[in-house]
Amino acid sequence: MTIRAVVTGVGHYLPERVMENAEFEKLVDTSDEWIRSRSGIERRHIAAEGETTSSLGANAARAALADAGKAAEEVDAIILATSTPDLTFPSAATMVQRELGMTHGFAFDVQAVCAGFVYALTTANAMIVTGQAKRVLVIGAETFSRIIDWTDRTTCVLFGDGAGALLLEAQEGEGSSADRGILAADLNSDGRHRDILYVDGGVSTGTTGHLRMEGREVFRHAVEKLAQTAQMSLEKAGLTAEDIDWVVPHQANIRIIQGTAKKLGLGMEKVVVTVQDHGNTSAASIPLALSVGRANGQIRDGDLVVTEAIGGGLAWGSVVLRW
Ligand code: UT7
Repeated sequence: MTIRAVVTGVGHYLPERVMENAEFEKLVDTSDEWIRSRSGIERRHIAAEGETTSSLGANAARAALADAGKAAEEVDAIILATSTPDLTFPSAATMVQRELGMTHGFAFDVQAVCAGFVYALTTANAMIVTGQAKRVLVIGAETFSRIIDWTDRTTCVLFGDGAGALLLEAQEGEGSSADRGILAADLNSDGRHRDILYVDGGVSTGTTGHLRMEGREVFRHAVEKLAQTAQMSLEKAGLTAEDIDWVVPHQANIRIIQGTAKKLGLGMEKVVVTVQDHGNTSAASIPLALSVGRANGQIRDGDLVVTEAIGGGLAWGSVVLRW
């Protein structure tokens, strides 16, 4: 018998305010045409005053619990991936725990920027297969609109706010790649690349800071490293790209998504794409795309799903799971 961490619920939350590309034409020297053609982004959601990463995350968590037909009292742990927590501490995860009225178990944040959800899923899986928790809420939630430099056209047009969540539950499997649940994961980081994607503030500066990115450099690393990590986790699961039903990539740029699919030898009909509607929501982008892909009937029970992401650090990784 093998313990597997199986997805039993998924949900998401997006702030009400939608900001179309055209609005940026009034803020910086850009155009709808440039943003669409270079990134694939058409619009993004922006958190309202008073909305925070933890409030977005709590709404997504409620949706995932409702999808699974479970209550917060039945959850053992909350793992929340974010690099835009409400405060330096306590963790946004404990704020979600409080919002859900959950007074038992444990909650903590994972910070691996855009790769955060893949890191959080891998951590939750490790806790479930080693018996430390039976039911774990894994959340990706971000309010990047708060760390964007709204005068920098090379970055401000790319990001959005949102949250997605999965409920993972321990279930028995056979130990084969036909099992439901997380089958393999692959995590990587390389701190030498700090300066191509970072926030220029934090405890050491006494400011929140703004996101700074050398987009072209990050792009170059992304296609190569994302295809590599997806291949690595497939290999660990004893599978190949031909077995994939859906790739659910981090949604940063349609050209990165297309380039990675091509490297894996997959057509775009096997890729869940939400970047046009959400922009880059960092750690929230994968659970948001999983939730949208599930809601619109793309991802079905038994489908083999590969998620992959890269972000600041650089940190990158992938997870192979059967829904
Ligand atoms: O989620 C974390 C990981 N992040 C990513 O994956 C992002 C990776 N990078 C990218 O997605 C792309 O590199 C960008 C979308 C950021 C940029 O696309 P690009 O094709 O790499 O463009 P570029 O940076 O090479 O810029 C081309 C030109 C430049 O002008 P010059 O130097 O050629 O005269 C930029 O100044 O486009 C200019 N530009 C803009 N023009 C209009 C940059 N931003 C804008 C803008 N509007 N918003």
